[in-house]
Amino acid sequence: MIKDTKEKLSPITVSLHWIVGLTIIALLGVGIYMEQTHAYGLYDIHKSIGVIIFAVIMLRVVWRIINGWPEPASEYKKIEQLLSKLVHYVLLIGSFIIPFSGMIMSGMGGHGIKVFGLELVAKNADPANPYDVIPLNAELAGLGHTLHGWVSYILIGALVLHIAGAFKHHIFDGDGTLKRMLGQKI
Ligand code: HEM
Ligand code: HEM
Repeated sequence: MIKDTKEKLSPITVSLHWIVGLTIIALLGVGIYMEQTHAYGLYDIHKSIGVIIFAVIMLRVVWRIINGWPEPASEYKKIEQLLSKLVHYVLLIGSFIIPFSGMIMSGMGGHGIKVFGLELVAKNADPANPYDVIPLNAELAGLGHTLHGWVSYILIGALVLHIAGAFKHHIFDGDGTLKRMLGQKI
């Protein structure tokens, strides 16, 4: 019941996949919108959900390390297996780096980190101008910013392959890869 098998994935694998997956897709959309339109009203909600989902992502990584990867649902070419494994690694590692680098960017940038009003890292307000902040470490904040953007775009590339692969298995190969991730027994 708790273990992934070839015929059925554990409810833990399925729930973690969809909670993390759908939240990440939403945050990618909100993040790009924020960056392009400077919609400052969305920053707090983006950061709050990002920090909460980071906790779930850590559970997901631990779950993968303890349980290993699920076996392929059917026999398919070695090259396809290799590509799908590579994409899974990029998705899992990327989904860890993105929120982590976001917290470094905001924390080290002096903006602070709040989860729906609960202050985790205090803002470093500029005493000369309370509307401005002083970075705690501008280099680290800059690195966090660069990683946050770049890894997000790499993740989007991997996601296109991932989703195309899932539908290819479902529609053209007619196998149970997608059904199994929807919690069904194959
Ligand atoms: C609509 C979007 C998505 C669909 C249709 C989808 C579909 C699937 C399917 C069918 C599998 C099983 C593959 C297999 O058995 O080999 C899978 C596994 C996986 N997916 Fe997605 N996925 C989506 C979004 C995401 C997102 C956003 C992430 C990013 C974090 C993600 C990360 C993973 C990982 C790491 C695996 C490997 C198994 C695991 O660790 O649970 N997926 N996905
Ligand atoms: C899985 C979680 C997250 C995802 C998928 C995500 C995704 C993104 C994306 C795609 C952007 C736009 C980047 C660009 O176009 O260069 C962005 C911007 C941003 N993110 Fe995140 N983010 C996540 C979590 C976080 C967290 C935890 C924080 C901070 C605590 C954060 C803070 C920010 C900030 C401040 C910006 C705007 C940067 C600017 O205006 O220059 N994000 N995010």
